[in-house]
Formats: sequence, structure tokens, C-alpha cells
Amino acid sequence: MLLIKLLNTQLFAMKKLFFVFLSFISVTTFCQTKVVIVPQPVSMEMHTGNFNFSTSTIIIASKSDMHEATMLNVYLKKLYGFTLPVKGTASATSKETSIVFYLLTSGKKDEYNLDVKSNKIMISSASNEGLFYGMQTLLQLLPETKESLSNGFLIPELSIKDYPRFAYRGMHLDVGRHFFDVDFVKKYIDYMAYLKYNTFHWHLTEDQGWRIQIKRYPRLTSVGAYRNGTIIGHYPGTGNDSIHYGGFYTQDQIKEIVKYAKDRFITIIPEIEMPGHASAAIAAYPQLSCFPNQSTEIKNTTPWAGSRVGKQVQQTWGVFPDVFCPSEYTFKFIENVLDEVMQLFPSKYIHIGGDECPKTYWKKSAFCQKLIKEKNLKDENGLQSYFIQRIEKYVNNKGRRIIGWDEILEGGLAPNATVMSWRGEQGGIDAAEQHHNVIMTPGKYVYFDHAQTKNSDSVTIGGYLPLDTVYNYHPVPKELNDSLAHYVLGAQANVWTEYMSNPQKVEYMIFPRMSALSEVLWSPKDSRNLDEFKHELPDMYKRYQLWGANYYKGD
Ligand code: ACM
Repeated sequence: MLLIKLLNTQLFAMKKLFFVFLSFISVTTFCQTKVVIVPQPVSMEMHTGNFNFSTSTIIIASKSDMHEATMLNVYLKKLYGFTLPVKGTASATSKETSIVFYLLTSGKKDEYNLDVKSNKIMISSASNEGLFYGMQTLLQLLPETKESLSNGFLIPELSIKDYPRFAYRGMHLDVGRHFFDVDFVKKYIDYMAYLKYNTFHWHLTEDQGWRIQIKRYPRLTSVGAYRNGTIIGHYPGTGNDSIHYGGFYTQDQIKEIVKYAKDRFITIIPEIEMPGHASAAIAAYPQLSCFPNQSTEIKNTTPWAGSRVGKQVQQTWGVFPDVFCPSEYTFKFIENVLDEVMQLFPSKYIHIGGDECPKTYWKKSAFCQKLIKEKNLKDENGLQSYFIQRIEKYVNNKGRRIIGWDEILEGGLAPNATVMSWRGEQGGIDAAEQHHNVIMTPGKYVYFDHAQTKNSDSVTIGGYLPLDTVYNYHPVPKELNDSLAHYVLGAQANVWTEYMSNPQKVEYMIFPRMSALSEVLWSPKDSRNLDEFKHELPDMYKRYQLWGANYYKGD
């Protein structure tokens, strides 16, 4: 540990030295005056000299790493507007400067080496994702602002060896409260790729909108994807905007996004919420409720647009009592929905929600009370557990695993479930103690819908989560000893969008906290340094601008 710390101190000093060194060079070529790589690599050694990245630089790749070479050009085009010629290993000539991708025959899957020498940049790894991560690091050695390549870019000679700390590095996006189009979802995936995240948790169904086309149930989107209005301002709202609002992803669009993510080594975990947060599905198919003929309960004081009669897609925020009824009709419906979802998403995990499911309707329902007796369940929590376990069995039989929010611990955990601990760390601790895998998403540390500043200049859901708190977060709770710590696969930031109605607001809420969390998830624990990270924020801001992203600029 001490060694890593020492190395890190040296690294910081070296970066500064390098800055001083370059200040004396006068060239027309673009000079990268400072090396700022986020998340910070495991080890980096600076050398003297530079590689001249120029119009005569070529990329060398073989068939097995052509994908990463192609992706480098995709990003060069996106960020700077040019591409480089790609040549096979045999055709490389010594007079050209080159960027070489090289797949090693052995080594750790996610680990990569990036070596910058005067005439060659070599990215090597035993896996294609390792090469991709090396390529992302290389991008951060290129200019922070959009420059033309005509004069070349000078890249410092250096050697990096790097690999992630956690296997699960997640970002979540709620597209139910507000809908985000395909272009923005792709942009979000690119933000993840730049910062070496590998899992996108796509929250696709909510009380306020069902966002995924399910061919067998067309009303889920023709009815469930739209609401007649949205409350204005902070809950409970000062009125209703009466704007017909909604949208959904067609299955073709979903396939396109899954492929886009896969090309960036990002797995998408879809979330289909159950048994709660089901208002939109119930509005489309009222039989999913235990009380199909009863109108959605809407408080007299709730600002509302259009009819209050019948089952309604919600126009306000919160938790609602009309949830999926645990009937055979509902189970068949969910199984059919999941069949289509699993066809679209190849991920090992399917998120089935499980949070915030009030039991009031189940308590009132003669059907539910009979079922509790019949199945010999303790109470309504037992019924929720029965619900989740039945779905888990279905998903497991298809060769997949479920993830659920930490409420799935109540009434007994499904045998193979992974738990997302959000109400704090206790759910994660309990699940790990029961030898279940855990993803940490505690509100206090990684809820990016909370304000970043006490002087918040926009409406947020509440809470205060400054950058420092995110940066200082340790995903493995101290209560877990070494024999249990490995159940913590990683962590994830959640982005609930009640108060984020457009991409710019999402970006404002995630940056720079998403960069901070990337270091928590990737960089060695003891090499992280908040002061250094903050010192580098102006460079990160420039990078966000290069990415075309909005961000919170500090007080
Ligand atoms: C949650 O924030 N309701 C998981």
C-alpha cells in the first residue's frame, strides 16, 4: 500500500514536472501540457521525449483487434473530425509513426499496457476490452480541445499498466419519468466508455411511462408510454403543464443501442419493474391490478390533466398503491414480456425492480389473502418474496440471473438473486452475509439526482451529494470482512429523472460526479487523492466540452 502511495506521489510530482518541462518548448505543434487521465491508471511512468501524432500516423491492427482500431477512428472522428489509415501488421513500414494494437496470448482480461515511444504507440492486452480501455486512455493523451491535426499533436512518451479495481462499474438511467431519445442514450453510453464504466442499467418501466416496445402487448406503448401532463415544479407541484408527454424505444432501436453498447464493451442490464411502480402497465392492461375496475387513486390536491376516471399513467412523482396483482394473468404477462426482453438483451442479468411496493392493495384483496394462506406465506412481504422467487425461477430457467433492489431481501431472498443496495449499505451487508452478490448504490453516496451544491440553481429531488462524498466512497462496507468482501461486485450511480427533463440537465447532474465515481470503481483504493482530483477538474471540464457535454461548474 505504501509503495502505491509513494508511486502516486511521484506520479503527481512527475505530471507537474512534465508541465514545467513543456512550458520551455516552443512549437507550433499542439502540446499536451499536462497528463490527466481519469480514472487514474494503476501505474504510469513518464519518459522524456514525445510521439508526434500527425497526418502520417497510421493504425496497425490485425483481424483480431480490428474492432478496437475501428473504434479509435470512430472516436477520432467524433472528437476531432479526422480518421487515420488502418493497416494490417504486414504492411507497416518503419518510416511511419504508428499506433499498434496487439492482442497478447495471456494475461488478465481487463488489463492493458499503453506504451508511448518516439515513433510508436503500442496498446497491448490479453482481451479486446483491455485494448478498448487502452484506447480510451490514449484518447485522454490527445488535446482537451478540438484541434486540427494539420500541425500534429505531441504526446509524451510514457508507459502505463492499468486494470480495474471492480468488475461492475455501473451507471443507471431512468427513462420512465422522462424519456431520452436514442441519440442521447448513445451519448450517455459514450460518456460511460470514456470513463471505463462497463454496465448500463436501463430503467425502462415506470409509473409515468412504459418505454420498451413489447410486440405481444401493444397497449404497453400505445397507452402506457404517454401521460396527459406532468406536474410543474417540485412535488406536489404548482400546477400541471397539460402537455401530452411520452415516447418509447422500438425493438429495432433497442437492438441498435445494445449493439452500440457492445461495441464499447458495455453490457446493458434492462430493468422491468415489478411488482410496484406499475401504473403505466396497469393503465394499458387493467387486469394486471387486483382491482381492475377501480380508477387510479389521484388525490384531489394533485395537479392533473385530463380524465381522472379509469386506470391512468401517473403525472406526478412518488410511490403508488396500485401494483401488479400476483395472479396467473400477471405472471403470464410478465413471463411473456421477459421473453421479449431476454431476446433483445443478451446480458446475464435482468433487473426486476422489487423496490417501493406498497402492500395496501394486497392487504385489501381477497385474492391475495387467499393466496397467502394457500401458499402458507407469512404475510404480504412473504407474498412479495413469492412473487420475486417465481419470476427468478422463470429467468433462471432461461439461463439468466435476476438483480433486484434491496427490498427483495424482505420476506426471504430469491436463491440466486443479486442485490442492489440503495437504501443504505445494510441491504448489501445482509445480502453478502447470505453469500449473495451485491451491487452498491446507496443514496448517500451515489444518487446523482441529489443536488451537488447547497446553493442549487435548479430543482432537484432533494438531498445533498457533493463531489467529495462521491470521491471518498468505499463500495465495500467496513462491516464485511475479507471473506465476504468479494460478494461486492462493484457500485453504480443512479440517475432518477423526475427533475431532469432534458439531456443537458442529466449531464449537469452527472458531471463531474461520474468522473469521481469512475476513480472509485477503477483506480486502486490507496492511490486515490481528492486534492489531486480536484486540481485536475479544469482539465476534466475541457474534456466534457470536447465531448459536447454540459456539467456542473462548481460554486
Ligand atoms: C429506488 O431508488 N427506488 C431504487
